[in-house]
Amino acid sequence: MKTAEPSPTETAPATRNKALLAWVETIRALCEPESVHWCDGSQEEYDRLCESMVQAGTFTRLNPKKRPNSFLALSNPSDVARVEDRTFICSQRKRDAGPTNNWTPPAEMRAKLQGLFAGCMRGRTMYVVPFSMGPLGSPISHIGVEISDSPYVVVNMRIMTRMGQPVLDVLGANGAFVPCIHSVGAPLEPWQDDVPWPCNKEQKYIVHFPETREIWSYGSGYGGNALLGKKCFALRIASCMARDEGWMAEHMLIVGVESPEGKKDYVAAAFPSACGKTNFAMLIPPAEFKGWKVTTVGDDIAWIKPGPDGRLYAINPEAGYFGVAPGTSAKSNANALASCRKDTIFTNVALTPDGDVWWEGLTDQPPVLLTDWTGKEWTPGCGRLAAHANARFTAPMANNPVLDDKADDPAGVPISAFIFGGRRATTMPLVFQAFNWIHGTYLGATMGSEMTAAAAGTVGQVRRDPMAMLPFAGYNMGEYFGHWLEMRKEMTRPPKIFHVNWFRKSENGKFLWPGFGDNMRVLKWIIDRCHGTVYAEETPLGWMPRPQDIDITGIKNYTAETLQAALAIDVQGWKREVMLQDELFFDLNADLPKELLFQRELLISRL
Ligand code: OXD
Ligand code: MN
Repeated sequence: MKTAEPSPTETAPATRNKALLAWVETIRALCEPESVHWCDGSQEEYDRLCESMVQAGTFTRLNPKKRPNSFLALSNPSDVARVEDRTFICSQRKRDAGPTNNWTPPAEMRAKLQGLFAGCMRGRTMYVVPFSMGPLGSPISHIGVEISDSPYVVVNMRIMTRMGQPVLDVLGANGAFVPCIHSVGAPLEPWQDDVPWPCNKEQKYIVHFPETREIWSYGSGYGGNALLGKKCFALRIASCMARDEGWMAEHMLIVGVESPEGKKDYVAAAFPSACGKTNFAMLIPPAEFKGWKVTTVGDDIAWIKPGPDGRLYAINPEAGYFGVAPGTSAKSNANALASCRKDTIFTNVALTPDGDVWWEGLTDQPPVLLTDWTGKEWTPGCGRLAAHANARFTAPMANNPVLDDKADDPAGVPISAFIFGGRRATTMPLVFQAFNWIHGTYLGATMGSEMTAAAAGTVGQVRRDPMAMLPFAGYNMGEYFGHWLEMRKEMTRPPKIFHVNWFRKSENGKFLWPGFGDNMRVLKWIIDRCHGTVYAEETPLGWMPRPQDIDITGIKNYTAETLQAALAIDVQGWKREVMLQDELFFDLNADLPKELLFQRELLISRL
């Protein structure tokens, strides 16, 4: 092993946690970085790292008059999204990972990783990033430590999590943490110049060891591949912890809904990637809903525990938003735009000549000249996207004008309803309510959505995405459904469960529902159902509103007939839908709870 020279960035650990100190030493010996930097999470540290990335060409500082304290990073074109085909769940038994996860025997994967990580940080600084998923000290929160050779990861983690010295203080001498190790997989030899976005084009491995609760990520510097607190910890590893400990780690946003009378409910919703989740999390009610307020607790992930009153309580384990930029506009999501007004890191969006950012959908008219996400000159009509379809903003939740006042509450918020939904052009009605918890679990388990750019795959094709957890469940999906059913026993007042579809289209391809802020109209029906104050019709699918139960006053050019079409039950379409569920149910058969098969039979007989 090469002995690391003390460098100007070398810092001493401010912890007496022996397990942490020993682990950091082991990883240092394996990866052979030039120096080790323990992150304190201070503003000064953040500013210094950002400035060093400006010097290195990784960051462009945006015009401080337009975007104070904000930066643009352009990734390598080979490193633009999560890599699901390179993501592995390495449980001891293949069956524990289940048929929906990539699996490799852990011993084989460990041998592979030892080879990949040996010397992989040569010439780079190894950062030690202590972080808390959830408010510091909350009984629902957990601590992780990410080791990374990417300063881009460090500054993003500072926005996305509670990060730095306060976490080490809470961890104390004996606290437990989830070890997360990340390398861009691009060691620098002394004669080599660095590149703005180091990564490994040939080899990418996003690996989880669920039994030992470890994460190893190699070769990518992008998003969920590299910010290991998010999908890797808060969903894949946390779902295993949750199963073992009797709680839930879900791919859900959490919002507060307050009526004009001041009555407040919280709902959590699972939508697959890029189905307008951030828009729903920051929804602005239409003018007709005067006095109604929707506030954000979280936009992506919920950790949920039964409380002493028999209800479920949820926290957002994250502290920032890693949102998809394209399509975000003052019209679609003014609160997301406000969230990235300042203190934001943009990745793979376009740069304007005056040092601001732009992406498709931000304005109706594109600027006449831009630098696109690949660094090339861009003009309207040149035939290329200016921003990558999966371009992102990393923005602190504190910037969100509608941040819920309990977003930081260690106790979490009580959940009245769970909402499932996907992007479906046909068959799925605007909204229906499950008959009960088991039926609701079946609705979540059989969710599907048309694919978008956040995941590799064919855009437009429908894929089954149970509970929006297909790429995120850290164990066997059948067993995960079983855990959902088990959770019912932990509650006396379970949330009501709903299914929505904002994306149904008419035969001539027109959306049957306006979406965005108008989703408040459906949300109100959902809240009223939770309180039992609105009528619902019993249908083969579940409880449904009649058209007159959804308030459409004030929606421009929208008719009761269109709403009726959005709510219609297409029996032929449902017959196909039920057949399509076979594919997933066949795969999961050995571990599928029988309750779900019975639900399917009941649905067929009702149809
Ligand atoms: C995300 C995703 O980035 O779900 O949140 O893909
Ligand atoms: Mn997500």
